[in-house]
Amino acid sequence: MGPKGLLITIDGPAGAGKSTLGRRLAQELGYLFLDTGAMYRAVGLWAKEAQIDPNDKETIEQLCERLDLRLKQGAQGVEVFLNGRNVTPFLRTPEIDRWSSVVAQIPGVRSWLLRLQRSYGLEGGVVAEGRDMGSVVFPEADVKFFLTASPEERAKRRYNDLIAQGANVTYQQVLEELIKRDKQDQNRKIAPLVVPKGAIIIDTSSLDLREVLDLMLQKIHFYAKQRGISPLPASRDTLNF
Ligand code: DC
Repeated sequence: MGPKGLLITIDGPAGAGKSTLGRRLAQELGYLFLDTGAMYRAVGLWAKEAQIDPNDKETIEQLCERLDLRLKQGAQGVEVFLNGRNVTPFLRTPEIDRWSSVVAQIPGVRSWLLRLQRSYGLEGGVVAEGRDMGSVVFPEADVKFFLTASPEERAKRRYNDLIAQGANVTYQQVLEELIKRDKQDQNRKIAPLVVPKGAIIIDTSSLDLREVLDLMLQKIHFYAKQRGISPLPASRDTLNF
């Protein structure tokens, strides 16, 4: 446990609920939400806007380290700043889904983001969400979760989100795209999607948000109790679970 609290990781495939649950868990614990998918998305957005061929690894590797990428805890949750500009509203589109998935396969992008992610995480008081958090970035995390759900259920959630944003997509397209991304994420050479050693696996297919959240909080409080510590920052010590 770092000086600011526990280090908690959430891994899992696209659409398993990592972002929503990570954000809520961080809120309830008073922790920072380290949204690493948003960091890869920001790199994808930058490459797209700079009109760099996403397969041109060398150029992307050379230039990405000069980017100023920061996460800030805003009133509405975590916000992503790229070279001083708030890019949060542009990150969750089908186009950036594809760009981020390609840049996430570039070794130099991963090693740069890994250093950045560790600099945020090691003090503790962090819920880190991504596909390689408990396996590669924070193998020493206090509590590791692996969230999963059936591809159909995950596609349904993603489809509903996209429709709510006004996107013009069909459920079938979303399902096919998701299965393709699963394969890409599982089969890539570096940091493939795996269940981290010691992770608590939760299948969210038939659970609602509150049920998963309560399950996660129970596990966190059980871990803390075993060690005789409070997982909450000092100001929230009175909150009982
Ligand atoms: O979780 P997400 O959909 O926002 O992630 C966007 C892309 O970034 C996705 O293709 C997987 C990749 N990613 C990754 O490789 N490692 C992470 N820790 C987080 C995301």
